[in-house]
Amino acid sequence: MTESNERLLNRRIALGITGSIAAYKAIELMRMLQREGADVRVLMTNSAVEFVGTLTIETLSQHPVDSDVLALQGDGQIGHIASAHDVEAIVVAPATAHWLAAMASGLAGDTITAACLATSVPVVVAPAMDGGMYAHPATQANVARLREFGYRIVEPESGVLASGMVGRGRLADLGTIVDATVEALSEASGTATSRRSSNRAAAPSPSPSPAPAPAPASVPSRSDLRGRHVVVTAGGTSEPIDPVRFIGNRSTGKMGIAVANDALDRGAAVTLILGSVTVEPPAAAQVVRVETAAQMQTALQALTPPEGPFFDVLVMAAAVADFRPRTPSDKKVGRSGGMTLELDPTPDLLAETAKRVAAATKSSAARRPVLVGFAAETGSFDKVAEKLRAKGVDLLVANDVAEASSGFGTDTNKVTIYSIDMPPEELPVLDKSEVAELLLDRVVVRLGLTGRAASDAAGATATPESAVSGR
Ligand code: CTP
Repeated sequence: MTESNERLLNRRIALGITGSIAAYKAIELMRMLQREGADVRVLMTNSAVEFVGTLTIETLSQHPVDSDVLALQGDGQIGHIASAHDVEAIVVAPATAHWLAAMASGLAGDTITAACLATSVPVVVAPAMDGGMYAHPATQANVARLREFGYRIVEPESGVLASGMVGRGRLADLGTIVDATVEALSEASGTATSRRSSNRAAAPSPSPSPAPAPAPASVPSRSDLRGRHVVVTAGGTSEPIDPVRFIGNRSTGKMGIAVANDALDRGAAVTLILGSVTVEPPAAAQVVRVETAAQMQTALQALTPPEGPFFDVLVMAAAVADFRPRTPSDKKVGRSGGMTLELDPTPDLLAETAKRVAAATKSSAARRPVLVGFAAETGSFDKVAEKLRAKGVDLLVANDVAEASSGFGTDTNKVTIYSIDMPPEELPVLDKSEVAELLLDRVVVRLGLTGRAASDAAGATATPESAVSGR
């Protein structure tokens, strides 16, 4: 798990999500609140549900989403009234111009305004919208009105907006919203807290003294990959020129090994197909050492026979060489004559694995594993969405390897996760272990969509070991 101060240990928080393009960021906000120890339940407006599906949120929060102002809970209580009385704070992020206007006027047309009206707990509001909309006197008057209610407003930031225009309206940094929530709660309970800028600076601090509360039910289980087989490729391949020399790349394998570690922590059986790496692989993984792209191809082919893949998840983090010498020499080439190398492109291992998987599972979508690729780019992510489609994967994790925080060999990475059915998610600079955790959170949600474990589908005899070794 990500290190955390647990400044919200056992705190019950309602997260209100309204219909802004920034709604997808609320999922990450929910995870950050959970990492602080909070039990988060989510209220959504109808238009927010159009932007982000409730399945992801319900799975990660382990609570039903309350988006229907007329709905009753299973116990007959009115959902938003129960939330209003049960939680200790309400965080509305992102808050649209429409929602601010409704709230300022006390119009209880959605579950979030209704809960805010019915509650006396602190309310934190983080607006997000077009810059012109935020600057409009009507919106500014509504924000001022909310301040009069005692609500804590986390101002939006300036930057490029969904429209492509630049203005002040981008949802505030998620760490700032978490900080504001901690402060609002400690002010309400009169407890001093330490402030920190993000959920990553984990200096220990006393947690606020909460009212007695049930243990948080919402922290995602660390066994959510139990019974699943996760295959990770990591490190670089080396393509021989002669017995002494090779074409290689700068990959250290850190990102892939971080994914393998997190998958093991979550209870998965992990096969690690490993090229050249500078870090130790986890002892609990089954490690298949390879040197060349061709050997990695053979290992992947063994895992994807025509009767179906032997895994539930493939994370292709390896830096596979794109070119290899056409005719490697079996004798050391002398220096005197100089050297001209003819290079051939290597096959796209991920794309061909995805094709084999699709062919083997076309009659049963439930057996389709989740496929994840990485895209090492320099300067722009223009090609990434097309790469995702061309490779036939579910998720593609793009990073700019020209940036200091996400280059080869660093312990951090700054990635944007592209998905076949969600807007791209730009994550801040994070430790590779945190990137791995957030990536596998998304994989876990997708596994829920694609169905049962590969071991169920392929039969009890198909173990990872037998698949890779051909036994
Ligand atoms: N990959 C692969 N086989 C290759 C090259 C790359 O399976 N021969 C995989 C990588 O492991 C990664 C993804 O494809 O998961 C994207 O790799 P990247 O190098 O960014 O893309 P390429 O397909 O090589 O495209 P290009 O180099 O032209 O940008």
